[in-house]
Amino acid sequence: MRFLATCNPGAEEVAAEEIEWEVEKARILEVREGRGRVVFESKGRAWLVMEQLYQLRSVHAVSLLLKEGRISLSRSGLEEAKRLAMESRAHMFIPFGGTFAVRAERIGEGHEYTSIELAAAVGEAVQLAAEEELGWRPMVRLNSPSTIISAEVEDDLLRVGVLVTGERSRHRRRYRVYDHPAALKATLAYTMLRMAQAKDGDTILDPMCGGGTVAIEAALLFENSKVYCIDINKRHVEGARLNVESARVRNRVEVIHWDATKLSEVLEESSIDVAVSNPPYGIRLGDPVDVRILYREFMPELYKVMRSGGRAAIITAEPVFLERAAVKAGFKVMGRKRVRHGDLWTTIFVFVK
Ligand SMILES: C[S@@+](CC[C@H](N)C(=O)[O-])C[C@H]1O[C@@H](n2cnc3c(N)ncnc32)[C@H](O)[C@@H]1O
Repeated sequence: MRFLATCNPGAEEVAAEEIEWEVEKARILEVREGRGRVVFESKGRAWLVMEQLYQLRSVHAVSLLLKEGRISLSRSGLEEAKRLAMESRAHMFIPFGGTFAVRAERIGEGHEYTSIELAAAVGEAVQLAAEEELGWRPMVRLNSPSTIISAEVEDDLLRVGVLVTGERSRHRRRYRVYDHPAALKATLAYTMLRMAQAKDGDTILDPMCGGGTVAIEAALLFENSKVYCIDINKRHVEGARLNVESARVRNRVEVIHWDATKLSEVLEESSIDVAVSNPPYGIRLGDPVDVRILYREFMPELYKVMRSGGRAAIITAEPVFLERAAVKAGFKVMGRKRVRHGDLWTTIFVFVK
């Protein structure tokens, strides 16, 4: 079985690593850096693999790959897509009397057709193939169809598959009952924890936790870790408590209403193994100067509470200011990665004390 997993662009390496660890007999075939795509195969037991795909914490969706082939960027690409869609035999995945929808995406530049036109062409081919082979015509239904067929064209490569992880993107975790206005995607929170090499038993801190995404992901991953979740805003602190409760990790997460620029007043010095955080980006905060001041005041405090050798993964849209503040506070840069968060290209730094 060959699969296509989608993830945050820039976070493909972490997704590939998780797939290799978590999915039975998985082998990575292709990592499409910057494109948010990982192609892999598994020779594992189908029922178990499907279950394991649902448990992945770094990916947004997984499709079972049925057919790949090159198509033109010009309008004739639509006819070629139809042929490939018929050959994919995706119609065999629609139960008798069931409905289907095609979710199409274009990646790259220069296509002379829209993703809606691509979806329509593939949908037509699926209906035709079902009529020819099975003698019935499945109906298209855009809301809650029985089967979702994925068709994405990356430059000139068309991939046709069947979505196996459901319509709802996996970054939307069910525990999130309070929606922070600038929430981090849970898949990115997982990615940052991995980049910081967090492990079970570590004491973990998110000093600007908002709705608690990082803290909850950490607590779900590591049953023996103590996790601190701090925010200056009372409403977010209450929201984080609701999310922590809903994720059933209250025994491992302590939510504290406090200011990250005074961390050493509530946390013991050298007590934190791993910090992972998503401070305000500046763009959303309004004035970028505010963020500069925040970084300058917060990084020395973070340095105090981290143990020697401890790692901090921090995501920012202002890499120059963050790096400067971190180095001035005494941290060394251990790594950095460009990742897309929503519409924004950001940098995740990993600092070490
Ligand atoms: C981008 S949001 C974090 C979102 C969070 N990762 C989530 O998924 O919900 C940044 C947070 O930093 C908090 N913040 C800003 N300045 C702070 C400070 N000095 N101390 C603690 N928290 C602060 C804000 O209240 C806001 O909730």
